[in-house]
Amino acid sequence: MSTSPATSSSLQTAGHSGPKKILVLGATSGIAEATCRIWAKQGARLFLVARNADKLAAVAADLKTRGASYVDTAAVDLDDTAQHPALLAHAVNSLTGMDVAYLAHGVLGDQPRAEQEFAHAAQILHTNFVAPVSLLTWLSNYCVQRHAGVLAVISSVAGDRGRKSNYLYGSSKAGLSAFLGGLRNRVDREGVTVLTIKPGPVRTAMTSAMKGSEKFADVNKVAQSIAAAIDKRKDTLYVPFQWQPILFVIRNIPERVFKKLNL
Ligand SMILES: NC(=O)c1ccc[n+]([C@@H]2O[C@H](COP(=O)([O-])OP(=O)(O)OC[C@H]3O[C@@H](n4cnc5c(N)ncnc54)[C@H](OP(=O)(O)O)[C@@H]3O)[C@@H](O)[C@H]2O)c1
Repeated sequence: MSTSPATSSSLQTAGHSGPKKILVLGATSGIAEATCRIWAKQGARLFLVARNADKLAAVAADLKTRGASYVDTAAVDLDDTAQHPALLAHAVNSLTGMDVAYLAHGVLGDQPRAEQEFAHAAQILHTNFVAPVSLLTWLSNYCVQRHAGVLAVISSVAGDRGRKSNYLYGSSKAGLSAFLGGLRNRVDREGVTVLTIKPGPVRTAMTSAMKGSEKFADVNKVAQSIAAAIDKRKDTLYVPFQWQPILFVIRNIPERVFKKLNL
């Protein structure tokens, strides 16, 4: 794990003065990296977790040059839930506290393969649902004890209704969104914010091979909306915002019609 010395920052946070302390799980994700660049510019203290050590080192070095006042890293495969408690305890210790935990890791998976191979379906559910539940169990109890903190988690519009083209990914995100709703209902009264982030299609490595990806949302604009929603302690963010009315319509299409659509 690598560290850089802390320097001053103008960003103030609730409960303590000084730079915001942010733990990022899945820090090499395109969306996470773009969000971290915003926080680095604000002088935040960052603890970055990702499974690819080389990519992680490159992201950490970039964020230091962009102004992060402190950067520490851990190269960990987040599928390994047994490692989570020690990893998270180490991260908050390194940051000397935590204002925000940002969960961004995830896999799209291969829908046709998952329809044939349960092992692949289970892998998608594990990475996108089981592993975040493990992380959030530890993190929510940490925040409840302190009556503070924001848990910002990237789910997806794909979780709002199962579609034949990606229902394994969609169901993993539906489970995650439902878990976050229940967690919010439990911890909001303890002073802890749970933000469910539901992006529509965004131009990142995850979607680069998809048809029409050049028309997907710009990752830097998506990151700006996410950083603002965290600051405002919102409950849910559809991003870009037009996905909120679109998903309202999609959720309300009668099943007898929906089952005939090619979505
Ligand atoms: N892009 C979109 O259109 C879109 C839309 C809705 C929701 N989302 C969600 O947004 C989040 C970020 O995705 P993205 O668009 O930024 O895609 P991305 O650039 O492909 O990022 C996904 C990240 O998850 C990491 N990851 C996957 N499994 C992991 C594991 N077991 N342990 C640690 N890290 C792991 C990947 O690491 P490696 O680089 O090592 O593989 C990668 O850094 C995901 O949760 C995704 O489901 C994306």
